[in-house]
Amino acid sequence: MKDFAARDKVYVATKFLPRSQQEIEAGVSGQEHIAKQLDLSLQHLGMDYVDLYIYHMWDYQTPLYDILEGLNQQVKAGKVRYIGIANCYAYQLAKANALAEKEGFAPFVSVQNHYNLLFREEEREMAKLCQEDGIAMTPYSALASGRLSRRPGETSKRLAEDSYAKLKYDGMAEADEKIILRVAELADKYGVSMTEISLAWLLTKVTAPVAGATKLHHIDGAVKAADLELTDADLAYLEELYIPHKLVGVMAQNTSSSNKKEQVWMKNAPKGMQ
Ligand SMILES: NC(=O)c1ccc[n+]([C@@H]2O[C@H](COP(=O)([O-])OP(=O)(O)OC[C@H]3O[C@@H](n4cnc5c(N)ncnc54)[C@H](OP(=O)(O)O)[C@@H]3O)[C@@H](O)[C@H]2O)c1
Repeated sequence: MKDFAARDKVYVATKFLPRSQQEIEAGVSGQEHIAKQLDLSLQHLGMDYVDLYIYHMWDYQTPLYDILEGLNQQVKAGKVRYIGIANCYAYQLAKANALAEKEGFAPFVSVQNHYNLLFREEEREMAKLCQEDGIAMTPYSALASGRLSRRPGETSKRLAEDSYAKLKYDGMAEADEKIILRVAELADKYGVSMTEISLAWLLTKVTAPVAGATKLHHIDGAVKAADLELTDADLAYLEELYIPHKLVGVMAQNTSSSNKKEQVWMKNAPKGMQ
């Protein structure tokens, strides 16, 4: 980025994990944890601020007030422009922003949850809250970790070996496969990639999907999706076969009791954060 873009022309987002058990035992407060994690990220990035700082997952062991005050301190210090949240229920976001408003703290302006053509549970409540309150949806796994970019049967090293992504989609319903086939059918109809169809659909629902990329050409696929306009009939065709899904991944562990157990994200977490 230093070589290719002026800092004020790019938007940089990063996120922080909950307090570790060691920090809790050592009496590190939520505010101190946030200050420390942000300074580490800024040091790694070689920057003096980030545009969006994201509360990665609900931390049942740290008071919400401390999280919000900790984030607000960083906004006031100019190290963070806006704050976002990820992996939460709509009620948690509504509760947090109500407290922020009462205390005069910075509110969450975006939510990064799991949302794609194969996982649409966000449409129950979160989408409605975001629309009413002007909160940006910036979902992750926009391509179902690559499943919505490939025809059934086509695989990749990552699809086969990424245990976290497998956990999220293994035991996929037959209906999911039929949806993937419909994505492929529309891709053929328009002469575009499946990635473009999947992301063009998501762009009708959200502000900015977080599309993953492990190869340079993946970025082209994501960029092209912004120019593709699907018809209402296409959208209905893609949506028709969806059946409700159980929560998976980090959201399946969004409970006060599972917060203390081993978490799905811990396998990849930096040393000391487990
Ligand atoms: N907030 C959270 O808790 C959370 C959770 C999960 C993810 N995330 C964020 O979201 C990012 C993406 O997650 P994800 O990997 O699940 O995202 P994704 O966008 O659903 O899947 C990305 C994968 O799709 C395939 N792909 C992308 N573009 C393609 C193209 N043009 N042609 C063919 N294949 C294409 C690639 O698979 P191959 O690599 O197999 O080729 C790529 O790795 C992560 O890096 C992370 O930052 C956040």
